Amino acid sequence: MEQQRQEKKQVILSGIQPTGVFTLGNYLGAVRNWRAMQDEFDCAYFVADLHSLTVRQDPAELKKHSLEAFALLLAAGIDPEKSLVFIQSHVPAHAELGWILSCYTQFGELSRMTQFKDKSAKHKDNINAGLFDYPSLMAADILLYQADLVPVGADQRQHLELTRDLAIRFNGIYGDVFKVPDGYYSKNGARVMSLQDPTKKMSKSDTNQNAFISILDEPAVIINKFKRAVTDSETEVAFREGKDGINNLMTIYSAITGKTMDEITAEFSGRGYGDFKMAVGTCVAETLTPIREEFSHLMKDRAYLQEAYRKGAETAAYVAGKTIAKVKKKVGLLPVK
Ligand code: TYM
Repeated sequence: MEQQRQEKKQVILSGIQPTGVFTLGNYLGAVRNWRAMQDEFDCAYFVADLHSLTVRQDPAELKKHSLEAFALLLAAGIDPEKSLVFIQSHVPAHAELGWILSCYTQFGELSRMTQFKDKSAKHKDNINAGLFDYPSLMAADILLYQADLVPVGADQRQHLELTRDLAIRFNGIYGDVFKVPDGYYSKNGARVMSLQDPTKKMSKSDTNQNAFISILDEPAVIINKFKRAVTDSETEVAFREGKDGINNLMTIYSAITGKTMDEITAEFSGRGYGDFKMAVGTCVAETLTPIREEFSHLMKDRAYLQEAYRKGAETAAYVAGKTIAKVKKKVGLLPVK
């Protein structure tokens, strides 16, 4: 028994919204790490479609993007034979625990979330209760699977902290129900910035197409976007304060090639920004090409995708079902039988 416990792998869980094709930011900040973690850990990854409803969606587009997001995860190397891969709304326990946890989350805590502040400023005509309560649902996603580690980009740190607080609060009242998870942030690429405004994070919902690299962009498009990337009026490729555009390009180049900032500075010494942008564009295009090819291959096989997410939903419902049953019992909901 003791030996069995020691051999149990740590549980990893993470999700991504199907609000558009993933960006290079999603890939370097999250999905690339997810793939790398599959052999060492017990991993669960999902398409967070319920979270996407917090911003008004076109129903047909949301459906299409959800299938594409699922295919993109597989194309990026998430293997359904190794990891649990599913779609959030296929597992009702997420919404159930989301509601229960929202009754343990304080108004003040949710008001402090920077994502809520940003998104409510951006969508002034639709500051809905779901947008406000978004972090309670995210906590439910994580706590249902008793995750040890949650690999996310730096922009999700505050939500992770709240998840920990909620788990500790709930356990404090009802005993050990939830594993208290830790965030896992990649050293490199945890924050990829917009190519047009490098003080803002790269986002798939940006209205300026040149601001982000979609992981399905063709090589020529990628190189063009990097050529147009906003930099500064100097000529030295060096990572320092005030050079947000260059710092961002160096972060991307370093994340892909594994080179340090000093090595990159030495490599492009005396060569100027044009050469550097070309090198970054080329290495990004090379990295994304196999993903784009695999994606188009997978999208031709709907039956395979459907079977993969159906199986995922079944296993996820089983795992999540154990936690939600325990939670319902603890809070005093009357069982049906
Ligand atoms: P989402 O869909 O915005 O992003 C998915 C993942 O990509 C990371 N990311 C970035 N990393 C680096 N640079 C960027 N520019 C960048 N943009 C996005 C995000 O940090 C994230 O890891 N709330 C989540 C989805 C979610 C979730 C969860 C995640 C729902 N439930 C439970 C983990 C656990 C979100 O909107 O991610």
